[in-house]
Amino acid sequence: MDCRVPVKLLLVGAGIRGEVWARVCSDAPGVDLVGIVDRDLSKAEAVRSIHHIKNALIGEDLEHALRVTQPDAVIVATPPNTHYNLVSIALSAGNHVLCEKPLSDQMSEVIDLVLQARNDGLELLVGMNFRYLSTSQRIKQYVETQELGNLSHAQFSYVRHRDGGRDDLNDYPLEMLYPMLFEQSIHHFDLLRYCYGAEVHSLVADSWKPTWSTYKNDCCVSVLFRFEDNVHVNYFGTWTGSWNKMEFRWRSEFSRGVLIQQSQFDDLIRIDFQPEMGLSGSRFKEEDEAETSHAERMPACVPFVDDSRMLLDELVRAIQKEQIPTTTAADHLRSLCLVPASIESLEKKSWVNLQEYYEKLGVSQAVGDSHCYGK
Ligand SMILES: NC(=O)c1ccc[n+]([C@@H]2O[C@H](COP(=O)([O-])OP(=O)(O)OC[C@H]3O[C@@H](n4cnc5c(N)ncnc54)[C@H](O)[C@@H]3O)[C@@H](O)[C@H]2O)c1
Repeated sequence: MDCRVPVKLLLVGAGIRGEVWARVCSDAPGVDLVGIVDRDLSKAEAVRSIHHIKNALIGEDLEHALRVTQPDAVIVATPPNTHYNLVSIALSAGNHVLCEKPLSDQMSEVIDLVLQARNDGLELLVGMNFRYLSTSQRIKQYVETQELGNLSHAQFSYVRHRDGGRDDLNDYPLEMLYPMLFEQSIHHFDLLRYCYGAEVHSLVADSWKPTWSTYKNDCCVSVLFRFEDNVHVNYFGTWTGSWNKMEFRWRSEFSRGVLIQQSQFDDLIRIDFQPEMGLSGSRFKEEDEAETSHAERMPACVPFVDDSRMLLDELVRAIQKEQIPTTTAADHLRSLCLVPASIESLEKKSWVNLQEYYEKLGVSQAVGDSHCYGK
């Protein structure tokens, strides 16, 4: 039985993501969802009704809802261009915050929020929930234990035809600059840092827009990363394909074997490298001639929901001083910087050194010594 005093949470944004947060909050022990704010009241009411959160206040205005409900923390699940304003209001009222990604597309605003939260002694976490997928946790574990030897290089490929015209998708990315980078690749860049436990040394990037894309701006991204420990990663991500089947493949090459994640939320296989096989048999081996692959057994995980539950738990434990959080805004700044650094690289058509880029943006103070992997 959970004997802690319940943490009072207020949710802002009752769209696609807000609905998931309402579900997760209403199920969570030790959490009381005291209100749902959306500038469209009908959406807030619909979410309250779906999840039977009868006592939650419904409102359009965050400041009013904060005064009435007096929450401990606010979850912000609105479009990115509203985050800075809403998070500032919540922090100024003395609330801890968990905000969806990207915290802002302006690095100066992210820095400002990080410093504001730190100065006020408040927790500010960001929705990097994919860190908590079973696949991500397992890859991270292999890197940490070095069970397959040292990580050397990787390919990360996310190919999805995401038609922005669908009714069940948010529509603000249709007009965004670099929607793939800010909305989707940010998760992938964060996973690379988090699972590999390493920071990016430098990167070179390109982006473009296919003629049949439903997005106004670039939605194909290619980035070559060099990490500080000399790991090299080749990344490709797109929301415009010409096959509606989604393809996700993340292959990590270690000195003694390979991990391949073959779908977005599961299907991780391990192959133990047998170097001597390279000297015999076919020079271009098919699967049945090469080392056998083994499926990794992992706890079942409902995507977006179970990973968000674990992130919520991190927030609650941080508020209750039971855990030092790692999915913080200061840490997010390191992942998020990889986005404008990629834009700088493609505009200048050159490699970008991340340490120099941090100094140029003045992020060093905000980042501090926070690392997602606790070094
Ligand atoms: N971490 C994840 O897995 C994940 C998944 C999807 C979306 N997201 C993020 O969640 C956020 C929201 O995305 P979405 O898909 O739910 O968008 P959405 O358009 O479906 O919902 C946004 C909601 O915010 C409301 N809103 C907008 N401005 C507001 C304001 N100033 N005050 C109050 N309400 C306001 C809108 O009326 C709408 O109901 C984005 O930052 C997105 O990147 C994260």
